Amino acid sequence: MMIGKRRGWEIPEREATPEALVMCRRALIGRGPAGGGVVAAALARGALSNPAQAQWRLFSGGPVLPAPVLKPLKAARNDAYVPGRDITEEAQATSYNNYYEFGLSKAVAGAARALVSDPWSVEIAGMVATPRKIGFEDLLGKMTLEERVYRHRCVETWAMTVPWVGFPLAKLVAFCEPQAGAKYVVFKTLADPKTMPGLGQRFYPWPYTEGLTMEEATNELTFISVGMYGKTLPPQNGAPLRLTVPWKYGFKSIKSIVKIEFTDKRPVSFWEGLQESEYGFWANVNPAVAHPRWSQAKETLLGSDERVPTKIWNGYGDQVASLYTGLTKERLFV
Ligand code: MTE
Repeated sequence: MMIGKRRGWEIPEREATPEALVMCRRALIGRGPAGGGVVAAALARGALSNPAQAQWRLFSGGPVLPAPVLKPLKAARNDAYVPGRDITEEAQATSYNNYYEFGLSKAVAGAARALVSDPWSVEIAGMVATPRKIGFEDLLGKMTLEERVYRHRCVETWAMTVPWVGFPLAKLVAFCEPQAGAKYVVFKTLADPKTMPGLGQRFYPWPYTEGLTMEEATNELTFISVGMYGKTLPPQNGAPLRLTVPWKYGFKSIKSIVKIEFTDKRPVSFWEGLQESEYGFWANVNPAVAHPRWSQAKETLLGSDERVPTKIWNGYGDQVASLYTGLTKERLFV
């Protein structure tokens, strides 16, 4: 995860050729029409409508899949959560993504269409009354959906404001019936090498894993999103269910959850496992604490080139600052 301050001659990341395409251009050129020629020709005739699809096709040989049909989701907006800025355009929030299982580019939407999110089930494991699996539709039937407009802040310094549809994680925690000794909730994303080309990058500690303390998990803000902009989640945003933790850097908001485990041991998150000095367990937003390689003082809202000041706790201090009282020895901010 990396983003720099863009100067006049630099193009936005979303317009850049995916790294994978650039890195293998030599091999492709060497293979003449059988390699780069094929991709270039396919791009020219529109058969591969964007570079992410080209990347996907190159590595998997799979077909370019049609965009999924997203179902409308009715849910009343909870007006208690006022983001204090305009909602990001849906097209921006659904086309500039991080989903490393499908590639390193921000343009992973095409590749992510390979995600099979129906049928889907979630395993409930660890320190609970009854370990079990529950189907996604059955889980939905037990929850009341609401819409919440939250600010989202990526550690790379881009930000957006999204109307999520879902339910408080606290409701799901109660449903899981954790044992009294459980201190953490651990989440895991699907890891399917057949549909997720990123899993071929073996130095990443797959499956994508994230964790929260029980206090964080049951805070009123912590949300399980099953939709956005009044529809079911598109695959690139984490279909069919993802975590949304608005006061923490976006990498805590794990996508496409298949397992929820309760434990008394602090888990090691995906990015923490890769680079602990840069991405810690707590990862709370703070403009005054720089990432080791860049400042967090400002952020860029998707769809705009303007840099605006970052807010501590991403603006949610009233609801969450008290969770961290007394944790003086912890590195609370990245
Ligand atoms: N979850 C999984 N499984 N894989 C990922 O690569 N990226 C994270 C987070 N959840 C990621 C993930 C990061 S770095 C961010 S900023 C957000 O998803 C981005 O969410 P969005 O694409 O819906 O904006």
